[in-house]
Amino acid sequence: MGRSGKLPQHIAIIMDGNGRWARERGLPRVEGHRRGIESIREVVRAARELGIRYLTLYAFSKENWGRPKREVNFLMSLLSAYLDSELKELEENDIRFNVIGRVGDLPPGIRKKIERNISQTRNHKALVLTLALSYSSRVEIVDAVRQLCRRVQLGELRAEDITEGEFSKALYTSGIPDPDLLIRASGELRVSNFLLWQISYTELYVSEKYWPDFRKADLIDAVEEFQKRERRFGKTEPEESGVKRLSLTSGALR
Ligand code: IPE
Ligand code: IPE
Ligand code: MG
Repeated sequence: MGRSGKLPQHIAIIMDGNGRWARERGLPRVEGHRRGIESIREVVRAARELGIRYLTLYAFSKENWGRPKREVNFLMSLLSAYLDSELKELEENDIRFNVIGRVGDLPPGIRKKIERNISQTRNHKALVLTLALSYSSRVEIVDAVRQLCRRVQLGELRAEDITEGEFSKALYTSGIPDPDLLIRASGELRVSNFLLWQISYTELYVSEKYWPDFRKADLIDAVEEFQKRERRFGKTEPEESGVKRLSLTSGALR
């Protein structure tokens, strides 16, 4: 890992490709999900070791409810087991647990475990681990609009005071900085309804690996690639690199 480059403060990951990983091995899709949990474990640990402050994992989308019942039930039981098995790890490593999404859609037993993990880790400081569950970015935006409209109706807020900052605060991710780096596993070049507002200026990185094969070394590769990027946020590049580019161009012309 290059020591000079800046670390991303917030990494978001679309954990995709569990089904294909399994299919290529002649296994049922659910085996891919089971193996995917091991990747989550390793990536959370690695992010903590690297000093990443926020890690947001897309675990289950609102659209994923439309999968066969058997697969949805399996994912719910995996999630339930994960919430139990990882609590100790979160406690020992100063990791704060958080969720975004329509958590009310989840079975009551899982909701209870989520509440427990959130409350037992609420004072942890090293890393905020956010799981996106029953998440849809469009629903998140619509929910934010509703919340702001209600506040306007109640006279707590004037329409002209709805700024980008105020809008961000109405999203599920309120208080979490926008991701610096978004990683998608399995080679797909799409965002699949994840953090649409928040990724306006996020650096994108697509790994060809299926999620069950995505491990610590792959996270480090992504961070190293991030460190090579020049983030301009719509501005011009810094002065020195402008000079460098000029001399390169004149060299090429000679
Ligand atoms: C990602 O893997 C896990 C979830 C969406 C829950 P997939 O299950 O989408 O695997 P592929 O994309 O079909 O291979
Ligand atoms: C995105 O993956 C959702 C999660 C990783 C939880 P999907 O497999 O559901 O998305 P599409 O169908 O490839 O867009
Ligand atoms: Mg998929």
